[in-house]
Amino acid sequence: MLSTTLILTGFMASGKSRVARLLAEQYHAPLIDLDQRLVEILGDSISHVFRTHGEKYFREKETQSLQQVLQECHAVPAIISTGGGVVTERANRAMLKTASEEGMHVIYLRASPQTLAKRIRRDPGTRPLIDAEKMLSLEDTVERVKVLLEGRRASYESCADIIIDTDCLSLAEVVEKIIDTAK
Ligand code: S3P
Repeated sequence: MLSTTLILTGFMASGKSRVARLLAEQYHAPLIDLDQRLVEILGDSISHVFRTHGEKYFREKETQSLQQVLQECHAVPAIISTGGGVVTERANRAMLKTASEEGMHVIYLRASPQTLAKRIRRDPGTRPLIDAEKMLSLEDTVERVKVLLEGRRASYESCADIIIDTDCLSLAEVVEKIIDTAK
């Protein structure tokens, strides 16, 4: 049984959504995908919201949703998968740190730019901060990921109370490690 909420963070394509799904299955716990919640609230795809309303608008909605979701999880523990940019906002970092101090686990799925870029390229056109203008080559994707990740690295690490290095792990191994560590 899941005794506390597990919040997955990490860069785009770090495996948050898939790992969250497997954790929810293992624990028979509710699954909350913050990006999915936003798509429902906004009634639009994230890429389209970025294009029509801009990133600032998206971040405001993301902060509101995170706040609401964390409140819900005080009553019923859940598995939460966040969007890769959630740590870019100070208010979100504060909420994540408070959640961790209150006993929830904030788990950073860490991966190298090479691993992330390869996975991003498998799912083209869905990451507005990587290739909103045009499809990038793998090499250009690695460079773009490096720049963004460097700017976010400290935030991912400072918000997390558990860090899992996922480069050499299968999804099942990541899940196993989380279950062992988050006991
Ligand atoms: C973003 C990551 C995306 C999504 C949005 C912004 C980011 O989520 O929230 O495109 O800034 O890293 P995933 O991490 O699920 O791709």
